[in-house]
Amino acid sequence: MKEILVKAPATTANLGPGFDVFGMALEHPSDKVRITLIPKGLEIKVHGPAKGEIPTDPERNTAGVVAKEVLKAFSLGTGLRIEIEKGILPGVGLGSSAASAAAVAFGLNVLFNLEMDRKDLTRMAMKGEVVSAGFEHADNVSAAIYGGFVIVKSYRPLEIIHLEHPKNLHVAVAIPKVPVPPKKTMKARSVLPKEVPMRKLVHNVGHAAALAAGFAIGDVDLIGRSMLDVVVEPARASLVPGYREVREKALEAGACGVALSGAGPSMIAVVNALEVDASKVAEAMREGFESAGLSAEAFCTRPGRGVHVLEENP
Ligand code: HSE
Repeated sequence: MKEILVKAPATTANLGPGFDVFGMALEHPSDKVRITLIPKGLEIKVHGPAKGEIPTDPERNTAGVVAKEVLKAFSLGTGLRIEIEKGILPGVGLGSSAASAAAVAFGLNVLFNLEMDRKDLTRMAMKGEVVSAGFEHADNVSAAIYGGFVIVKSYRPLEIIHLEHPKNLHVAVAIPKVPVPPKKTMKARSVLPKEVPMRKLVHNVGHAAALAAGFAIGDVDLIGRSMLDVVVEPARASLVPGYREVREKALEAGACGVALSGAGPSMIAVVNALEVDASKVAEAMREGFESAGLSAEAFCTRPGRGVHVLEENP
């Protein structure tokens, strides 16, 4: 039977000042997605601990939405079974929906030899984000497709810049155990200011430019110091109990910078691995959430590769 198994990484978006612009793929965790050709219909199955939280109706599942887009765009008259082994918790700000979307666009591209390049794949996978965020934001999906660090320079036309990451950049992640409200990303976008004062714009442009420069010259400290956002995070901080405590603890433990991961509630810290052990920072972040009365899962990882094939049965 014609099928493919692909692996797509978790991603962190925004990195502070780069709202809807910066994305970074993580080595861990990841989703595995198996796509099998069947005579007709679109079946979605989800495996893993988060199984019950993910809709299997193709209209409401990001992978289903993307599969339909690809089938339509290339007039592929086939049915599909999509089995998602969810390694990435949904709704915590680690690009769970983007990983499944990227995996399906990428997997179908390989299975049918559709010759979409990485930007075409991003364009397809972005359509899935509407289901969870209400907007086709490309920061998570492009990071899941390109791997490493990406800059969504513009949406119309779509232009993505892909940069390598410094090898000594490690990432500490803390995921608080809080109930995730339905349509969390949509809600976290609804609290954002509609207008931005000029001084905040100047701050964020300066920090975003410096952060990108940090990746270009391989300076982890500069990347971390530039992760300070004065527009989006202050508006979202009240949605994340422990935000301030986690920030403080991570910096005290030696992180170069801290930010909400995407729309949260997870938080990430960038660590210079030549100087500090990222697992100590992760532990400090867990304690930060704990001091605010929340238990949390914390771990360290590093930037990782984009979506890729694990097995193929052509
Ligand atoms: N840039 C998006 C947001 C990422 O912050 O709403 C969502 O994961």
